[in-house]
Amino acid sequence: MDIEKIKKQFESDMAQAGLKDLEPIRVNYLGKKSEIIKGLRSLGSLSVEERKSRGAKLNSLRNYIEEALMAKKVELAGAKEQEKYDLTIPGKKFEIGHIHPVTRIYNELFEIAKSMGFSVQEGPEVESDWYSFEALNIPKNHPARDFADTFYISEEVNLRPHTSNVQIRYMESHKPPIRIVAYGRTYRRDSDMTHTPMFHQMEGLLVDDRVTFADLKGALTVLIQKMFGEDRKVRFRPHHFPFTEPSVEMDVSCGLCGGKGCRSCKHSGWLEVLGAGSVHPNVLKNAGIDPKKYQGFAFGMGIERIAMLKYGIDDMRLFYDNDLRFLEQF
Ligand code: DAH
Repeated sequence: MDIEKIKKQFESDMAQAGLKDLEPIRVNYLGKKSEIIKGLRSLGSLSVEERKSRGAKLNSLRNYIEEALMAKKVELAGAKEQEKYDLTIPGKKFEIGHIHPVTRIYNELFEIAKSMGFSVQEGPEVESDWYSFEALNIPKNHPARDFADTFYISEEVNLRPHTSNVQIRYMESHKPPIRIVAYGRTYRRDSDMTHTPMFHQMEGLLVDDRVTFADLKGALTVLIQKMFGEDRKVRFRPHHFPFTEPSVEMDVSCGLCGGKGCRSCKHSGWLEVLGAGSVHPNVLKNAGIDPKKYQGFAFGMGIERIAMLKYGIDDMRLFYDNDLRFLEQF
């Protein structure tokens, strides 16, 4: 057996080998019936001298072939991997989600409310007539129902037009002192620049035994100034809500013109931010709280509206178009 010849032959086989040829080559050169292995097996029949030198040569050839096969396999497999992937294609951009502006406003409001001792509550969106209206001192066929163009599931069941339902539900199951904000989706048959059929509100309710209108004004001034900036002025205008008496609407001074009057504030210098008032005695009574012992104040605000004022957005429908160019700005 000519070791040099075997090596030469192996090298020439390898030069043209593809990935599939490597195993047959291995069997041919290092398999049981190969010359090298047969040669190693028959070393015992040689003299000690011959055995040493031939054994060393055969072993080194075997090692050489094993390593060459391994190296070739790595080389060819690597090349095949590269064929699968076009490394010159630009990478895909990894899209990172954004917090929706409505969620962002909620989070800010919750932080402020919690710092003032209010806890955050929820209530059902599909609601009965009692909790959406009746218990809030809005009787059937009363013109006060007109303030919300409600979606009805049946005469007795509706999609709540406001979060005020949570006031009743919470008071029913908790004794004063009560200090909550309630949040969630609300629904009205309305769609234009400043209305979407589904929108969000945050409701506030405080009930205790020595609550005055001054508490309402103080708490809401802190809330709104924390939200919009300590430099903003606030004012309260008389208004009417069935569930509060007296009732007010609250304005914050326009941030664009500083209160001088501009297009954004319709030249009034003021922006309306919420409705509020002292809880009507009928509402306390309907929820099982004695109005002779307890008083309270309540407020309600539209979250999209707050976001529009804060970020200078003029079309409310943008919040729900899912246009990333809009949403990514927040
Ligand atoms: N529920 C009223 C609305 O949706 C907002 C509101 C006004 C809530 C005065 C209140 C309140 O709790 O006291 O327009």
